[in-house]
Amino acid sequence: MTLLITGGAGFIGSNFILDHLAHADESVINLDRLTYAGNAENLAALQGDVRHTLVCGDIADRALVGRLLAEYPPRAVVHFAAESHVDRSIRGPEDFIQTNIVGTFRLLETVRAWWSALPSPQQRGFRFLHVSTDEVYGALAPDAAPFAEGHQHQPNSPYSASKAAGDHLVRAWFQTYGLPVLTTHCSNNYGPYQFPEKLIPLMIVNALAGQPLPIYGDGLQVRDWLYVGDHCRALEHVLAAGSPGETYNIGGQCEQTNLRIARTLCALLDRLRPKPDGRSYAEQITFVADRPGHDRRYAINAGKIARELGWKPAETLATGLLKTVQWYLDHPEWLAHVQTGAYRKWMNRHYGAMPT
Ligand code: NAD
Ligand code: TYD
Repeated sequence: MTLLITGGAGFIGSNFILDHLAHADESVINLDRLTYAGNAENLAALQGDVRHTLVCGDIADRALVGRLLAEYPPRAVVHFAAESHVDRSIRGPEDFIQTNIVGTFRLLETVRAWWSALPSPQQRGFRFLHVSTDEVYGALAPDAAPFAEGHQHQPNSPYSASKAAGDHLVRAWFQTYGLPVLTTHCSNNYGPYQFPEKLIPLMIVNALAGQPLPIYGDGLQVRDWLYVGDHCRALEHVLAAGSPGETYNIGGQCEQTNLRIARTLCALLDRLRPKPDGRSYAEQITFVADRPGHDRRYAINAGKIARELGWKPAETLATGLLKTVQWYLDHPEWLAHVQTGAYRKWMNRHYGAMPT
């Protein structure tokens, strides 16, 4: 059996492949364009493992995707590939439109052409799992009920708008062509191998480097945090037992403000890597200008996946953050390698000069 994974060299995709191959004897073809966010080093543990093949290429390349499908017929496509960073989408939306909309469209079309020619038992068994986000639902008021699956799409950033467009295409390919699709909407992930442009790894990296910890606006925006390993297990449940055409929301029931997250990370670092002068990393917290169109709150109602597929997160925020901080402390080489010249350029452009 074979899985075709797109974007498997990114944060969640690489965690998914590592977890999957730890318990399944199956081939994985990993199609990844290796953008700034894609990192073959995430999969170093699989070097020499014949079950994993990394193919550097674009989901929008129909000829390449067609060849891969013919050569390694998959039982499922798990579609992680995306441009995924809200701040980058605000500064330059074009790549988001290209990959998250045009790329998803071309992938769907290439998969459909291949799938239509399969014998019916294989057609019925095939799955296209589209990994989406809770951000497509827009922002929640402080006292509003968490997002359930039927919530209206109301995206507010170029990133979430492009993901929402991808969701609509995936839905239409089920309704119109019968392609057996599954869609998941997950809340904010954190854990090993996350690129340090997202909040949690950025706070850890800047804290250790003695740099400011930039908190947008008042820092009281709320996210529903989920440990990446729990997300990967949820996707395994959806792949194994989800019903085609259905969507599943995945969340950690861990609503926290950004400021609380930053302070918790500082407290963990104070304990695990105390500063020689005994001062707290929390002194590095710096309030900076807010993100335009910043969504105030996200929260997920993960009742459907719990009820229908028996999934629940295993980690609490306390255990997940501890594991994460420890992972970054234990992997200074991985961090040094991703903090290349291009990374520093982004940091300077986005944050400018901040007081240290
Ligand atoms: P990421 O940015 O770390 O990884 C994305 C990967 O896709 C990278 O390896 C990149 O090289 C690859 N890629 C980009 N464009 C490509 C293209 N055109 N063709 C092939 N590969 C391409 O993202 P992530 O955090 O791992 O997120 C994975 C998926 O999960 C995304 O679809 C994202 O929208 C979704 N998601 C992420 C979160 C989160 O908190 N990170 C939460 C919910 C949903
Ligand atoms: P992020 O990790 O970019 O994820 P998303 O925007 O997809 O939720 O940001 C998480 C939250 O942290 C979000 O409310 C924005 C905030 N944030 C900061 O306050 N400072 C930062 O430097 C970054 C990157 C994010």
